[in-house]
Amino acid sequence: MLVLENIWYKDIIRNVSLTHSKGILAIIGPNGAGKTTLLKIIAGSIKPDKGVVKTPKRIGASWQNPYYSFYRSTVREEVELAYKIAGKKGDPLELLRAYGLERLADKSPYRISMGEARLLSIALTLIWDPDLVLLDEPTTGLDYFEKGKLASILWGLGKPVIIASHDLDFILRVSDYVAVMHKGEILVYDHVFNVFYSRILEKIGFPLPPAVLVGEALGRRIRCAEECLS
Ligand SMILES: Nc1ncnc2c1ncn2[C@@H]1O[C@H](COP(=O)(O)OP(=O)(O)O)[C@@H](O)[C@H]1O
Ligand SMILES: [Mg+2]
Repeated sequence: MLVLENIWYKDIIRNVSLTHSKGILAIIGPNGAGKTTLLKIIAGSIKPDKGVVKTPKRIGASWQNPYYSFYRSTVREEVELAYKIAGKKGDPLELLRAYGLERLADKSPYRISMGEARLLSIALTLIWDPDLVLLDEPTTGLDYFEKGKLASILWGLGKPVIIASHDLDFILRVSDYVAVMHKGEILVYDHVFNVFYSRILEKIGFPLPPAVLVGEALGRRIRCAEECLS
């Protein structure tokens, strides 16, 4: 269980309180709102000036620049290393296949695309079997199909996840709960539908995802416009 109580950090995080124990929590907000800083406080890499942070023991994080999480000369070796560190046995190719990355096994992790690198960094984080998963802007560089892959991986995880993102379409699709951050404060925390279908986002100048406009026109709370086609 994650508990944040009255967290302050410089003038970047202002009196943030938050708890999260299961499902997917999204922290959304414009650039500079303080999302990354808050994730770093949760991960323990920044110590807040004031407040209480209680976290599960094992936290796995995939940061904004996925290339920083690589050390080896091939993608396969990167996965082998992650298994070794985790003290687990596993078939690197099988794992890469689950993420649609097996064709990259012998390539340098520094010479794969941003989307591929991001999926690889998330895969490596999950090998460690963390009790809480932190993902910072996980959809940057991902195409439509990679985003779908990431969504199904997150749904199948069965462990608490916190995503910092300004990709509202993706967040509406995958999240259970949403915290809206603005200038270091959490303005709203609620179920994803209550946040997206309440005009709160409009009030703070965020564009409504197309799915919300379609959903409102149909009088249904939907997560993505494709739902109406099925
Ligand atoms: N190490 C730092 N020292 C001082 N200010 C920082 C530092 N890191 C980020 N900031 C500032 O803090 C604010 C929040 O940044 P950040 O947490 O990266 O926001 P977000 O992830 O929501 O875009 C920004 O104004 C940013 O310029
Ligand atoms: Mg950020």
